[in-house]
Amino acid sequence: MAILLTGGMGFIGSHTAVELIKEGYEVIIADNLSNSSKKVLERIETITGVKPLFYEIDVAVKEDVMKVFEENEVQGVVHFAGYKSVPESTRIPLAYYRNNLDTALSVLEVMKEKNCKTFVFSSSATVYGDKNKAPFNEEMPTSTSTNAYGNTKLMIEQIVRDFAASWEELSAILLRYFNPIGAHPSGLIGEAPDGIPNNLMPYITQTAVGVREYLGVFGTDYDTPDGTGVRDFIHVVDLARGHVAAINYALKTQGVEAINLGTGKGNSVLEVVSTFEKANDLKIPVKLLPRRPGDIATSFALADKAKKLLGWKAELTLFDMCKDSWNWQKNNPKGYED
Ligand code: NAD
Ligand code: UD1
Repeated sequence: MAILLTGGMGFIGSHTAVELIKEGYEVIIADNLSNSSKKVLERIETITGVKPLFYEIDVAVKEDVMKVFEENEVQGVVHFAGYKSVPESTRIPLAYYRNNLDTALSVLEVMKEKNCKTFVFSSSATVYGDKNKAPFNEEMPTSTSTNAYGNTKLMIEQIVRDFAASWEELSAILLRYFNPIGAHPSGLIGEAPDGIPNNLMPYITQTAVGVREYLGVFGTDYDTPDGTGVRDFIHVVDLARGHVAAINYALKTQGVEAINLGTGKGNSVLEVVSTFEKANDLKIPVKLLPRRPGDIATSFALADKAKKLLGWKAELTLFDMCKDSWNWQKNNPKGYED
């Protein structure tokens, strides 16, 4: 009996593979390596002593997903596979709808045909939109977003709800991630963005390593304590453990639950910069810039539901996140490239 991780070679999937293996689960990874490296597999093996079975397939192709189920006994699926860049999704929205929706649909169809009843989905806090006031709780109304990426998350949540309404035995968890940063403390796996990073932490670490000249801080006039954006940064190892807790829970329940994975605490962009500097004894040159279109001032989770239902809460601090992000970056200045 195994847990299938679609997109399991990526940033969050690889950390989840490690934590699931540590808990004694057998892990299978299906990934087309469109945003990841095959090296991740050996790194997972170095950390855990176990090399997961790997299928290099396009998860949007139903027959290929079916083959994984034909050849293995899949107990549950964590569905990470998808494209995730917000700005890219505004340039090529159809590619985002095609890939993100088709991967989800083929996995769900195969699960039904093979009677696999446990599904965990990588959703995002982006579904809370710009009308709700933080802390965001799972009962708040969701809303469409200004970008196709966010809309695919909302649509897949709806698809899963409709599917669950038609199949009572399905157990599905929609995990709404806040802002995952950090890396495995071994420095062997981490976030390896292609090209110029859009997200804050990879931009900071690339500035620290000298690939970028300075960090642009987008907006200093928000209604926040220091005027810069506030986010709920969560260590990717905590996030990965949240998936283990979600799988444990989903295997013994049925129905759909949306659950936040966040720390419940917000930190500003400038707080992240100063914590990074302290944790690593480094200086990050910054340039104060205008707001980035589409950003909200403040986003952080109410993390009570994850604690109550899953018995999970984030344990690691912003200091840990900053240390581990830098440890990964300095040991792998070009990500997984040689
Ligand atoms: P990632 O890009 O590192 O991982 C996604 C993986 O999916 C990659 O390895 C990629 O090669 C694979 N993939 C993409 N399309 C595929 C396809 N058609 N077939 C097979 N494999 C495919 O991203 P991540 O940061 O690990 O995010 C994982 C999931 O979590 C994504 O769905 C993302 O949208 C969601 N999410 C991420 C964040 C974040 O900040 N990183 C926040 C909220 C939600
Ligand atoms: C972004 C996406 C969100 C997605 C998430 C994870 C947008 C509007 N939202 O979230 O949908 O789920 O990434 O992929 O893109 N910042 C800087 N300088 C930088 C980069 C970021 O100041 O170079 C600031 C931002 O303005 C923001 C904070 O840092 O206030 C966090 O930004 P980021 O890491 O991109 O995450 P989100 O915008 O929260």
